[in-house]
Amino acid sequence: MKNYVILISGRGSNMEAIIDAQVPGRCAAVISNRPAAAGLAWAAARGVPTAVVDHKASASREAFDAALAAEIDRHAPDLVVLAGFMRVLGESFVRRYEGRLINIHPSLLPAFPGLHTHAAALAAGVRIHGATVHFVTPALDSGPIIIQAAVPVLPGDSPDTLAARVLAQEHVIYPRAVDWFLQGRLRLDQGRVVLTDEPMGAGALIVPAG
Ligand code: GAR
Repeated sequence: MKNYVILISGRGSNMEAIIDAQVPGRCAAVISNRPAAAGLAWAAARGVPTAVVDHKASASREAFDAALAAEIDRHAPDLVVLAGFMRVLGESFVRRYEGRLINIHPSLLPAFPGLHTHAAALAAGVRIHGATVHFVTPALDSGPIIIQAAVPVLPGDSPDTLAARVLAQEHVIYPRAVDWFLQGRLRLDQGRVVLTDEPMGAGALIVPAG
């Protein structure tokens, strides 16, 4: 059976969605860069091993990346899942896990990379917003797109109401992407996403009814 590790920095609701979805693999560890991350307690209560690699304990970004990689490699994961992991990872770290490192970002990439995506979407006046799961490449919030979910922007939305609508869809698409990978149906091939047994890429875009 394949195994995966999840990296978090905070609440961990995407982590919960993935673990609760009973994807076909074993969660070998949940690793946080912040000792106070709420998701650690949730994982521990489920019997999932947890670890902290505190970025504040490292003198440099390179040292942090090396400490994080050492912890990840103890579990020899098939897949590394960034789920609200809020540290920028260096190029050599990303290359080390190329093709087995995925992330979720709360926008329809390539629109609105970076932070405060929901406020940015409202400020831009877009009518459609959403979330993206992608393979990670060295450039921030970029990389081959695996699955996206679109949601409407409604009159009167605040960043918080919009974030909640997007987050509900994150919890749909992230477990689906992890499931595909662990089934061996999803891979990165020379920079392109290959998804087998999913006709015409159907299922790689979620648009909720309503
Ligand atoms: C999620 O909305 C995720 O998309 C976002 O952080 C939140 C984490 O929530 N990630 C990023 O902004 C990465 N650039 P969670 O801890 O409840 O899963």
